[in-house]
Amino acid sequence: MFGREVYERRRKTLLVRMREAGQSGLILFIGNAEAPAQYKDNCYKWRQDSSWLYYWGLDEPLMAAVLSIDSGEEILFADDVDMDDIIWMGPQPSVESKAALVGVSRHRPYSELPGWLQERTKGRPVHFLPPSRYYNTLMLEKLLPGAAPSEALIKAVISMRLIKEDIEIEAIDYACDLGYQMHSVARDAIEVGLVEQEIVGRMEAVALSKGWGVSFPTILTLHGETLHNHGHAAVIEPGKLMVIDAGVESNEHYASDFTRTYPTSGKFTQKQKEVYQIVYDCNQLAFSLAKPGITYRDVHLATARKMLEGLSALGLVKGDLDEMVAAGIAGLFQPHGLGHNMGLDVHDMEDLGENLVGYDPDQTRAKQLGLGSLRMARRLVPGHVITDEPGIYFIPALIEKFKKEGLGQDFVNYAKLESYYDFGGIRIEDDVLITAEGARRLGQKRLPASVEEVEAAMQ
Ligand code: GLY
Ligand code: MN
Ligand code: MN
Repeated sequence: MFGREVYERRRKTLLVRMREAGQSGLILFIGNAEAPAQYKDNCYKWRQDSSWLYYWGLDEPLMAAVLSIDSGEEILFADDVDMDDIIWMGPQPSVESKAALVGVSRHRPYSELPGWLQERTKGRPVHFLPPSRYYNTLMLEKLLPGAAPSEALIKAVISMRLIKEDIEIEAIDYACDLGYQMHSVARDAIEVGLVEQEIVGRMEAVALSKGWGVSFPTILTLHGETLHNHGHAAVIEPGKLMVIDAGVESNEHYASDFTRTYPTSGKFTQKQKEVYQIVYDCNQLAFSLAKPGITYRDVHLATARKMLEGLSALGLVKGDLDEMVAAGIAGLFQPHGLGHNMGLDVHDMEDLGENLVGYDPDQTRAKQLGLGSLRMARRLVPGHVITDEPGIYFIPALIEKFKKEGLGQDFVNYAKLESYYDFGGIRIEDDVLITAEGARRLGQKRLPASVEEVEAAMQ
């Protein structure tokens, strides 16, 4: 948790932004509740709502807060523990002392929120964010039947959380250092004959012992062509590629998100090396282009062109590069976007709406495979924290579909592609901060990334 003044300042800024947007009334924040995995006392691991953490800091269930745009009044709704809680959870600080930690002077019992809202709203607008948990959806429906999330509030919150403060950058750098450690353990554990799950266990031990845990379910697989493959049951075979896409969430709840792809035998085959080099070149190109003023959409498109240039040299595609970019041929090989925002969530704020978060008002999201999945297209400004994660995947079912439907037939060498059906996939992902001068990769050290660095690290 940060100092009291951080949360006070953020809430003040939010009020200013709402007033500047011509808004009045109340802002209602609802923190998360525990989520039972099966029965009520056996819950999923506790995780607070990220926007709640940003403005109210308190990392505990069953809290809500109201902020008046008109008067600046703020009230926390939360309960002091009773004897039963003390028996099961031990003594807890008072709500009063917790509220003081984040600069809130007034508080009421959680159960009073409905009555208080009913009495105080009286036709005044109540702004709230889209809930990311069903508990909060149900609660909002009870509190404010039929009401919709406030686009003005969503935009104001995004405008703040999108530009990371210095203390947040420090926190993300730290999460990235933990991510570096976790990935290093994973890489060193790769061994033919082990089950993937054994490596997952060793690497996630780092996340759990040094931070809150992993920032999303770990992807560690010999089948990297499945973008979000969460199965870990395969036995590691020689001569394959292993994609490891994983991040640590720090105790402050800031994320890291790195991907590396390793040759399971320690050295790439010639064929693997050729494709790896293309992905690496795309990753490097994106980083070199990322700077204030350029849109990440244009960076995505530049890497798509680079990728097609490399695939063209391998004889997998042919034709004019710009025509192929326009036709979306890169999407056949990389059906995802170049990157996303990262912060308190690994895909930062996507619960608030992917397009509102990742697109400037003058941008519209494409429908094309690949570009259409781009989650961060905005014009870059200092303080953006984004991922740089190009990949090449040979997805037999997708290639067959393209072929059958005659898609890209002028450009794609389908006959040659068949010899890649058992290749798998490659992704290389770094986390990047946009600075006044350009960009820097987050974390003190960069994980080995080039062919030579990866092979050296695996010796
Ligand atoms: N972990 C999913 C991603 O890299 O976006
Ligand atoms: Mn990732
Ligand atoms: Mn990512």
